[in-house]
Amino acid sequence: SELGVVAVDFSGGQCKPGVDAAPNALISAGLLEQLRHDLGYDLHGDSDVHSYNDYIPKGVPDPDYRGMKNPLSVSAVTETLSSRVYAQAKEGRFVLTLGGDHSIAIGTISGMAKAIRERLAGKDIAVIWVDAHADINTPETSDSGNIHGMPVAFLTGLAKTDRKDIFGWLHTDQLISVNKLVYIGLRDVDRGEKQILRENGIRAFSMHDIDRHGIGRVMEMALAHIGSDTPIHLSFDVDALDPQWAPSTGTPVRGGLTLREGDYIAECVHETGQLIAMDLVEVNPSLEEKGASETIRAGCSLVRCALGDTLL
Ligand code: ARG
Ligand code: MN
Ligand code: MN
Ligand code: MN
Repeated sequence: SELGVVAVDFSGGQCKPGVDAAPNALISAGLLEQLRHDLGYDLHGDSDVHSYNDYIPKGVPDPDYRGMKNPLSVSAVTETLSSRVYAQAKEGRFVLTLGGDHSIAIGTISGMAKAIRERLAGKDIAVIWVDAHADINTPETSDSGNIHGMPVAFLTGLAKTDRKDIFGWLHTDQLISVNKLVYIGLRDVDRGEKQILRENGIRAFSMHDIDRHGIGRVMEMALAHIGSDTPIHLSFDVDALDPQWAPSTGTPVRGGLTLREGDYIAECVHETGQLIAMDLVEVNPSLEEKGASETIRAGCSLVRCALGDTLL
């Protein structure tokens, strides 16, 4: 089957350099070749990294706005990314995006939401967000100002903007419903984010829930919440994994998923037959360099599982 690959060398949603090198590192480790050769995908899109940094507005300052860092850059890059993802999805392809920091999900999910609404008579997509963090801060609740902690707030319309050049390009046909969003793996959620999750009744499975029920039962509950006729976008932040398996990431949090639990999530979502897109984000090979190859290997494994690699 057909796969649209989008490789996004962008790090402006947070402050640590290096996460922009992940797409090349994943591709150099053989990921795309494995998808082509072992899983039989027909690859389209970026076979090497298209520089998304070319879309950062040149020669204009990018001052903080409502506390957000690099707002013009993140907005411009995600706007372009959104149309590139949309174009791949309109062709009926599964879209695999290799990030980059998690701010890029503003582009990938908005592009998929619009393409699926057009292809399937107004149908909404569901999002499974696998992460140590909820990434649902509004500019006002965020302590860091890093936009990689805010993508879900913009994608659900909970964060609003009156600046065309700062996410004002997002229209309602590109947004997702809070009812079709499910989190898995949470363990570092800010105060303001907890309030947002509670007030909006957002379904979230924390590490506590995984400890209590086991990952098998958690996946049954997560998928039951989404239902069997809704296309699923899987947005996987590698920091959902415990730093033991994925140390090279910008905001590691101990007490996370094992590599097998991560792979299992990806396998279960694949098995539904409803998966339409996956993001793999926040791999930063320049951090904890001894662990970089392990982190890259873990990332490749998650993608292979989501795309249908089976153990037997
Ligand atoms: N909640 C923190 C913040 O808003 C951390 C976000 C980490 N996000 C991520 N995509 N790794 O800054
Ligand atoms: Mn083809
Ligand atoms: Mn995270
Ligand atoms: Mn994240």
